Amino acid sequence: MLIVHASRTSGGPIFALLCISKPFLHALSSRNIWSQVCVINAKDPRYHRVKALESLSGNRFKQDYINGNLGDYILSEYEKVSEDLRDTCTDHPWLQMERRSSPSFDVLSEVLGDLPMVYCAINAILNPSKFSIASIAVLQQSSMTLRHSFDSILYDAKSFRQQMSKLKNLYTISSVKNKLQDGDSSYPQSNSMSEAGMAFDLKNVSFAYPGSKKKTNALNDVSLSIKPGALVVIVGANGSGKSTIIKLLARLYDATSGKILVDNTPIQDFRGVELRQAMATFTQDHHLFPLSLYENIALGYPECSSNMDLVLKAAEQGGSSEFIKKLKDGFDTILDPQNLTYNINVPSDPDHPLHKKMEALEKNIDISGGERQRVVASRTFMQLNSGKVKFVAVDEPSSALDPEGEFQLFDRLIAGRAGKTMVFVTHRFGHLTRHADTIICMKDGAIAESGTHGELLGMGGEYAKLYKIQADAFSSGGDPYKATKDA
Ligand SMILES: Nc1ncnc2c1ncn2[C@@H]1O[C@H](COP(=O)(O)OP(=O)(O)OP(=O)(O)O)[C@@H](O)[C@H]1O
Ligand SMILES: [Mg+2]
Repeated sequence: MLIVHASRTSGGPIFALLCISKPFLHALSSRNIWSQVCVINAKDPRYHRVKALESLSGNRFKQDYINGNLGDYILSEYEKVSEDLRDTCTDHPWLQMERRSSPSFDVLSEVLGDLPMVYCAINAILNPSKFSIASIAVLQQSSMTLRHSFDSILYDAKSFRQQMSKLKNLYTISSVKNKLQDGDSSYPQSNSMSEAGMAFDLKNVSFAYPGSKKKTNALNDVSLSIKPGALVVIVGANGSGKSTIIKLLARLYDATSGKILVDNTPIQDFRGVELRQAMATFTQDHHLFPLSLYENIALGYPECSSNMDLVLKAAEQGGSSEFIKKLKDGFDTILDPQNLTYNINVPSDPDHPLHKKMEALEKNIDISGGERQRVVASRTFMQLNSGKVKFVAVDEPSSALDPEGEFQLFDRLIAGRAGKTMVFVTHRFGHLTRHADTIICMKDGAIAESGTHGELLGMGGEYAKLYKIQADAFSSGGDPYKATKDA
């Protein structure tokens, strides 16, 4: 009313109408997805795949990523699928909706915002005698426009700076230094040396985890020699340093002091990628990737991921093929898929139909812990079948397996022993320890004793004590507690 009154000499109601045209258009066009009650679910499998591949660079998969040399595979797959998505997605309704409220709308909105000023200016030219109110309006509008323009220049400059710094980060990725310095010797150095398997020498190795606040080291002055092709079993109480030895052998960390030699060469001298190609580790820390079960197995040997026969063979060896075939989607089953379902403005009432819809969309298939271990075991066999592996480290992966599964796993691993050095970490003293070339018994981060099963039993020390606890559990009428008391 005030505007109509004040501008009555220069058009009154028309001027007022033009003033509200911009907010009116905004109100009309703001019927976008964010004001609807809806559930959004990405259906396109390629989009799921892009998200899954992105997630593989997170901390959760770091160990699997490094051990499996997955960098090249993930990047090339990511490039393939994201390019495909970009090329074919231009007509997606979601994008259309975004486009409707983008550049052309902005221009229209700007023009409408300027209309009152234009109207006043024209009036002032046509009727100079009635100029007073118009000139004030023009001045006001001009000062506002100047302020807005200046704001937007500053905003653009800031966002330009931010974009530039992101770009700079992108280009400096290649110069980010690895925490573990890469060597430049290739592995194996000479085929004759590694033919029987990888040889290790640990000389006075001590190790504390980076950032660890513990007063004692995880490993203290450990010296150890593992001959090519040897079958070594490491036993010992919880926290005695068994897994830490495996991590140092696989060069996930460097020793804090002391030396680790591989085939008589310092482990740091080798190129990490080549060394890890020759190492297969199978631990409880491995995770299943949010990709198909087929790919989960195939990634044991990324270069041959499209070789279906090889993947099926590895699935058989790892004991996973039987249960995978029983799944509705078989080898195409994706466990732990990315959750790409969102709700917008859905009321909190749990009986709302969209809540049920969401639950149905989020329902994922799951398998048991032992079955997961079998898939990871199959991935290890896929790597073993590459023919490049010279060292196999197995760190208690079998606790989730049933006795038959465990027996078959160890049996199949040992059957492929030729040309490989094998180190097993286990709490269960079975046929493994009896067939080991060397048993290492750890205590408080140091080697308490080492030797063959017979030698260590003869010593009557830590190993004999641990062995007796398990052996007596079976010989004393199945009462493990009686055996413990005796021990
Ligand atoms: N990531 C870590 N950061 C800090 N300390 C760690 C880390 N991992 C292990 N430790 C510590 O290092 C020591 C040795 O651990 P390690 O995992 O080697 O034991 P382990 O013999 O494998 O035990 P378990 O039988 O329980 O598997 C323990 O005291 C443990 O608390
Ligand atoms: Mg351990």
